[in-house]
Amino acid sequence: MEQLKEREHDFSAKLRQASVIESLKEYISWQRKVRSSSGQPVFPRRGPISVNLDLTTACNFSCPHCVDSRMLNTGDYLDLDTIKRSIETLQNNGLLSVILIGGGEPTIHKNFEELVRFLSRQGLQIGIATNGSRLERVASVADAFKEGDWLRLSLDAARESTFFKSHRPRGRISLEKILGDASEIKNANSALSLGYSFVIVWKGILINGYELCENVQEIPEAVRLARENHFDYISFKPCLLRLDGSLKESIFSQPDEEHETQVIDEITRNLEKARHEASDGVKILESINLDAMLNRKVHELKVQPQVCHSQFFRTVIAPSGIFHCPALRGVDLGRIGSEDGYKSAGNFEQTQANLERSLRNFDAAKECDVVVCFYHHVNWWIEKFITSRKSVRSLTKVEDDNFFL
Ligand SMILES: C[S@@+](CC[C@H](N)C(=O)[O-])C[C@H]1O[C@@H](n2cnc3c(N)ncnc32)[C@H](O)[C@@H]1O
Repeated sequence: MEQLKEREHDFSAKLRQASVIESLKEYISWQRKVRSSSGQPVFPRRGPISVNLDLTTACNFSCPHCVDSRMLNTGDYLDLDTIKRSIETLQNNGLLSVILIGGGEPTIHKNFEELVRFLSRQGLQIGIATNGSRLERVASVADAFKEGDWLRLSLDAARESTFFKSHRPRGRISLEKILGDASEIKNANSALSLGYSFVIVWKGILINGYELCENVQEIPEAVRLARENHFDYISFKPCLLRLDGSLKESIFSQPDEEHETQVIDEITRNLEKARHEASDGVKILESINLDAMLNRKVHELKVQPQVCHSQFFRTVIAPSGIFHCPALRGVDLGRIGSEDGYKSAGNFEQTQANLERSLRNFDAAKECDVVVCFYHHVNWWIEKFITSRKSVRSLTKVEDDNFFL
């Protein structure tokens, strides 16, 4: 059987994993029937493989670059009963992984530890994105993590002053303390994959008239810190912003060609230096949209097929509702249910009916024409398979490994 290792971002391979491939086959067959207009084909009785679970809107940082800033600190959160029952409903329908993220800061949720233990007992793969300010809460459940689970710290800096300006933390917190705490968690359970997340901010990015703190020169230093503090990987991604009016995520466009060339050259040079720092200690990951930006292919990632197929395989559960895409979290256009939309079998049916409508009517080619889509490649891969003459039986299985989408 084909193996998935070393291809974390290859979503089309992830969808062919042994535990997932039947869902993919049923979805493709359903799409083909819809397009051949042979009556009303029955929507597959399968839920998402992976969900983003936004536990709370509360956050103790106020990062000037935060794409989700407008939905923070509303006082809303998901209650324990809703989460547990939603997860059970989803598991009855094929759920395999959960990413605790936001919106807000997941480690602030009052039931954080109980939830991690619950997800672990349920046998789900767990990912956590955190600002690192409450790592003692992660440390107290360190034994619950298994091989394949990950903890990713949104640090975006290598120097204290940049860390402070980029996150504006509430309370006494330093980069040094976060790195020390993270290293202890890794020490307590080496099965947990530890990640250093770095949103690259270059000179001249303005959000609401405020110029963000540049961090490009800190890329190599961040890799050194990641290596010294026993991180497994460091992931670089470009700073996104929500375009006014539409609220959809996009990449900041440079004012002119010359500026763009300077930015690309500077990031490329620093990433090159960083690769020397990494040696064989820490793995460097570059996001699909960073790769597109550095290779001047951002325009390609903005061209989506009419149908966004990814919405069938992963969704977002947030206090403000269920959304079919992380890039549209909190945006009405992407809402397919209320926050309890998976809480019972009945609610699940209703949310799936809304998802079916979204799959038939949401025009990603038009609605996502500014989104530098993370799922661009897999959406086109599925689209081309649907329109090909290939039988779904020709899809070959990949060994189970990583269910995060
Ligand atoms: C909004 S945070 C919420 C979860 C958690 N509080 C944290 O700090 O990771 C979720 C992710 O969004 C990323 N993010 C926030 N603003 C971004 C931006 N402008 N561009 C790219 N990624 C961004 C963060 O780096 C983080 O990895």
